[in-house]
Amino acid sequence: MKINNICCIGAGYVGGPTMSIIAQKNPDIKVNVVDMNADKISAWNSKDLDNLPVYEPGLSKVVKEARGRNLFFSDDVNKHIYDAEMIFISVNTPTKISGEGKGYAADLKYVEACAKQIAEVSKTDKIIVEKSTVPVRTSEKIKQILRLNNSDVDFQILSNPEFLAEGTAMRDLEIPDRVLIGGDKTKQGKKAIESLVKIYSSWVPKENILTTNLWSSELSKLTANAFLAQRISSINSLSELCEETGADIEEVSKAIGMDSRIGSSFLKTSVGFGGSCFQKDILNLVYIARSSGLVKVADYWEQILLINKHQRDRFSNKIVECVKNNDLHQNILLLGWAFKKDTNDSRESAAIYVANNLLNNKIRIDIYDPKVNKDQVDFDLSYLNENYDKSMVKFIEDPVSNIFNYNLIAIMTEWDEFKEYDWQYIYSKIKKPAYIFDGRNILNFEKIKKIGFNYIGIGRK
Ligand code: UDX
Ligand code: ADP
Repeated sequence: MKINNICCIGAGYVGGPTMSIIAQKNPDIKVNVVDMNADKISAWNSKDLDNLPVYEPGLSKVVKEARGRNLFFSDDVNKHIYDAEMIFISVNTPTKISGEGKGYAADLKYVEACAKQIAEVSKTDKIIVEKSTVPVRTSEKIKQILRLNNSDVDFQILSNPEFLAEGTAMRDLEIPDRVLIGGDKTKQGKKAIESLVKIYSSWVPKENILTTNLWSSELSKLTANAFLAQRISSINSLSELCEETGADIEEVSKAIGMDSRIGSSFLKTSVGFGGSCFQKDILNLVYIARSSGLVKVADYWEQILLINKHQRDRFSNKIVECVKNNDLHQNILLLGWAFKKDTNDSRESAAIYVANNLLNNKIRIDIYDPKVNKDQVDFDLSYLNENYDKSMVKFIEDPVSNIFNYNLIAIMTEWDEFKEYDWQYIYSKIKKPAYIFDGRNILNFEKIKKIGFNYIGIGRK
């Protein structure tokens, strides 16, 4: 079946960029991205392409090309559900904060609300595509809700997990390693799979489009993220050993990464991984394993998260010790708040946890990030800690011109601009003694030490 009208529910980090590319590559298909957040929709429709709700390199160019042609953003959710032949569900699935599975399971209330709304509004057959990361067998739940609330039309459910990484989303969407589509093996199910394959084939080679059953597709997404996060926790755990033994983690990482069986990606030590996916998906995997009685399997995967927390704690404890031992009473400066470079997303960023730890130790902090704003920083810190005291944090616009205020700089995000700072000049202006805690090992530590800074990286002496 040839699809002419797509609706995507959820105009966030997944829905926005993904639909922009689908629309760009399929000018004959009308793509309506809807969201219940009207402010977000007006920002997507704004003339100011530099301030779209999602910052991704290359995104504004694609939006400029397709918006108004066959890409539309709207808060009229019902109308576009009604009109669509295919509906993507790209809403948030945060970890549950109450009820059964609290702290582990994904909260499916937004996905379930979408399913209910689709059932209530639909008068024609529709293909529903699960794009949000969901626990295995969610499709079953969506099916039940749809059929219970509407038995007049046929709903086919597909799972099409998103593998894009923020900061490189446009490239990942344009040349994906693979597109995964899971669906039922029935005649109708196969037809639905074919219609989605057709949409992706406009730009993705057929051999990179993988079709599976629904549950394999759902589980593959969780597993892919768990494997990636596992590599980071593995290298981070070794970084502590390096600090004890005198081995250098960057050298170890390079040496093992050259083994083609291991490969070099995702072996960069850091203050800890963040982002909306890794922690949530692993918690989900742990929950599913534990609910199935697989205690050892659950414990195995949970260890990735324990190491990640340990890495953040280790880093912040070192800063606290340094402040106390050296009697540094001035503010300290955190460079970077986003969970990685080239995004304005700060969900689960290591910076939030490190900052919170410093604040709990009565250390005042100044924060700078090129893309995250002060409201977001306040939101993140108050969400983590209800006793958050705003007056202990200052958000600054231009870190370098105020540098004489600080003794200690902690690099939290690997933004390119931090590497490009004139560190010689900064050293000449900064209060002494001057410490750099490089949570990403992005600076040339020999050079920085030579300038005079006390340099504390991760996994090296
Ligand atoms: C991840 C997956 O990569 C992507 O396929 C999936 O669709 C969503 O989750 P994302 O969270 O956007 O993407 O970014 P990613 O590049 O995976 O980085 C996640 C975190 O790990 C970041 O905080 C990053 O700084 C950190 N990281 C990454 C490391 O600390 N070391 C590394 O070697 C790689
Ligand atoms: P992701 O990273 O998964 O894209 P985001 O939080 O960035 O998550 O985006 C999810 C979007 O989904 C939000 O903008 C939210 O307003 C929207 N959303 C959630 N539930 C619904 C719903 N029932 N109808 C319309 N939009 C919804």
